[in-house]
Amino acid sequence: MEGIKLNKDCIPKHVAIIMDGNGRWAKEKGEMRIFGHTNGVESVREALTAAGEIGVEFLTLYAFSTENWSRPKEEIDALMDLLVHSISSEIKELNDKGVKLQTIGNIKNLPKSCQKALLNAIDETKHNNKVTLILALSYSSRSEIVSAFKEMIKDIDSKKINSDEINEDIISSYLSTANYPDPELLIRTSGENRVSNFLMWQLAYTELYFTSTLWPDFKKEHFYKAIEDYQSRERRFGKISEQILGND
Ligand code: FPP
Repeated sequence: MEGIKLNKDCIPKHVAIIMDGNGRWAKEKGEMRIFGHTNGVESVREALTAAGEIGVEFLTLYAFSTENWSRPKEEIDALMDLLVHSISSEIKELNDKGVKLQTIGNIKNLPKSCQKALLNAIDETKHNNKVTLILALSYSSRSEIVSAFKEMIKDIDSKKINSDEINEDIISSYLSTANYPDPELLIRTSGENRVSNFLMWQLAYTELYFTSTLWPDFKKEHFYKAIEDYQSRERRFGKISEQILGND
């Protein structure tokens, strides 16, 4: 990619994206909001391809939040149709690219047709191992944490675990992301500088990258630019610079 230099030895394993700005992008063009979402699907393809090309192993996309259920019914219906259509028509592409599809969130709240398309795509791509694409659907971090608490309390009551044993790893194991590493990088498009109830536990040490680019305009080079910015940062995890550089 012209002008962008990436260090192959410092590629984040897991990148999470809050895809934002579809509605504003459509409005700027005098179109209905769903036009923005439809064009956003191409940006999903671009991000996934870019991730695969540089060796990002996990890509989590915030596709529909719990809060999004309060949008107008026509927009929700159109988004769900778009999801069903995109997922069903992309299975071959996902297999060609070695992409395993997974989901987090309350999938049971999605329309039956959407659940069916997702389960089918998850099954059809389960043997792939190049990139794991995790779609966050009907997801919110607080509700994920509430569910984790409930499960943990059940397991304490039934003596499956002992409350004295609870530590950070045990809590992580009750979250829907138990099988994935925490993201090293979070990208949010459209100029909003918030985390919006997304992966709050998992983002504890994540680098945050905010860009004013609206999601339908977000292409491969924008993804690479975010990775380049990530690589320019020093991740200290509470230590001092000299310890990280091995001088202490
Ligand atoms: C945020 O923009 C975007 C969404 C709520 C939906 C994202 C969905 C897609 C990109 C399409 C389907 C995805 C897949 C994985 C096939 P917004 O509507 O909040 O924009 P605004 O803030 O400008 O109103």
